Amino acid sequence: MNHLIAPSILAADFANLRRDVEMINNSEADWLHVDVMDGMFVPNISFGFPVVKALKEHATKPLDVHLMIVDPDRYLKAFVEAGAYNLTVHYEACPHLHRTIQAIKELGCKASVAINPHTNVSLLKDIIADLDMVLVMSVNPGFGGQKFIEHTYTKISEVKELSALKNPNMLIEVDGGVDNSNALKLIKAGANVLVAGNSVFSAANQLAAISQLKHS
Ligand code: DX5
Ligand code: ZN
Repeated sequence: MNHLIAPSILAADFANLRRDVEMINNSEADWLHVDVMDGMFVPNISFGFPVVKALKEHATKPLDVHLMIVDPDRYLKAFVEAGAYNLTVHYEACPHLHRTIQAIKELGCKASVAINPHTNVSLLKDIIADLDMVLVMSVNPGFGGQKFIEHTYTKISEVKELSALKNPNMLIEVDGGVDNSNALKLIKAGANVLVAGNSVFSAANQLAAISQLKHS
């Protein structure tokens, strides 16, 4: 399949969110990546439901919601009602991950699991068949603009191998430090959804930056 591009709104100008959402609407991006941080699971706080709802009102692309929060079960329904197309929870934040994934699916939403850089891919073995997507973190979650971790290529290949055995239609997303220097290598390793924050929003021509990633 052709890979998907999901610009991360975390890197947008928060005083001009509508303008930046409209830029994404008019771009070759496929999804809008929405990073929700609670100051507990990660050392940063981003935004909550009112902002997700406002994004949904203006976005024409599906909202790919990445929950970097402890005990996400408390808020799954609220995020689906706010407009999430896909909900990603962290492996490290879910002691009853199977239950959490079933709950997301029962809400009629796509379900995905993110793994931090230190989390071994083999830990997904007994859940991967239930997932629509695995998100491989290529930085430690919490902030945009961090340096890409090179070991990510190996992890993406490992997820691809596991998915070939257990869930061949599942998507593999990579998030953190993605730009034109690593996009092609990530796609070759098996990634088919690229999240990009700073490399899109700090570009002089944001539409061109998205287009370049799309045609990597
Ligand atoms: C990091 C977030 C990322 C972030 C990516 O915790 O999950 O989605 O916005 O930003 P860049 O592409 O700048 O690393
Ligand atoms: Zn993210």
